[in-house]
Amino acid sequence: MNSPLSLGTAPVRPLAFPIPANVHVETVVSVKHYTDRLFLFRITRPQSLRFRSGEFVMIGLPNAEKPVFRAYSVASPAWDEELEFFSIKVPDGPLTSELQKIQPGDAVLMRHKSTGTLVVDALTPAKRLFMISTGTGIAPFASLLRDPDTYEKFEQVFLTHTCRDRTELVYGQELVSDLADDPLIGEFTRGRVTLYSTTTREESSHMGRITALISSGKFYEDLGIEKLDPATDRVMICGSMHMLKDVKELVESLGFKEGSLNHPGDFVVERAFVG
Ligand code: A2P
Repeated sequence: MNSPLSLGTAPVRPLAFPIPANVHVETVVSVKHYTDRLFLFRITRPQSLRFRSGEFVMIGLPNAEKPVFRAYSVASPAWDEELEFFSIKVPDGPLTSELQKIQPGDAVLMRHKSTGTLVVDALTPAKRLFMISTGTGIAPFASLLRDPDTYEKFEQVFLTHTCRDRTELVYGQELVSDLADDPLIGEFTRGRVTLYSTTTREESSHMGRITALISSGKFYEDLGIEKLDPATDRVMICGSMHMLKDVKELVESLGFKEGSLNHPGDFVVERAFVG
């Protein structure tokens, strides 16, 4: 029988508190700070963890008897040997105020179960897949964009990423520019992924909220593509609460129906981690 506690491969520093049941203790492999609000970290992957690309797990730190856990979309694909996460830093956030200080070799806690609605199996097949994200809401799409299953189901993938300023867009730009050269998935992604990055509080080549850009038609003009249509398209949405509500209303007004694993449909929605 498997022990409920599994240790990653790298050496883990001694932990000050007992580890709760059903929690993996994993090791930080790397950390990259993009801005004073955003950072990326990679951890070892428990051998027993199975998840679908696009799902989230609960992450915590071994710094208290009852650690605080928060939902984090896995940004790496299901086949990856490590787990990648893209996180916000909230100065007084119960988890991220501490999590932002992690360094390679540190321990991170992860509950055993993964779950989530942003999975390709919750959508019926179609020609185009639109991934609409703001801020750290890009994370589940970073996973799905690196999964061959996405390209088996959809011919073209459009990722939109809206942030306050240009530096916050860098993670998404690196992600998409690295896709074509990736030895494992480059052959699936080449010529099939389009990134549309926009800013709302700093000048850039595309400015404005994605909702406004879609409603005005500028989004379609900029990319030279047909309008969103449930007959040909599927939509996945991840970001802040208000953005989810507005984009959901927008796609519903175009005739899209929400899907789930039990009843696959035209679009799915998930809130990005906040705090
Ligand atoms: P804005 O700057 O106009 O608020 P945050 O960093 O606060 O999570 O926001 C990430 C991005 O999401 C920002 O560019 C923000 O634009 C945008 N945003 C916030 N609310 C909405 C919404 N209701 N619809 C579309 N985009 C939104």
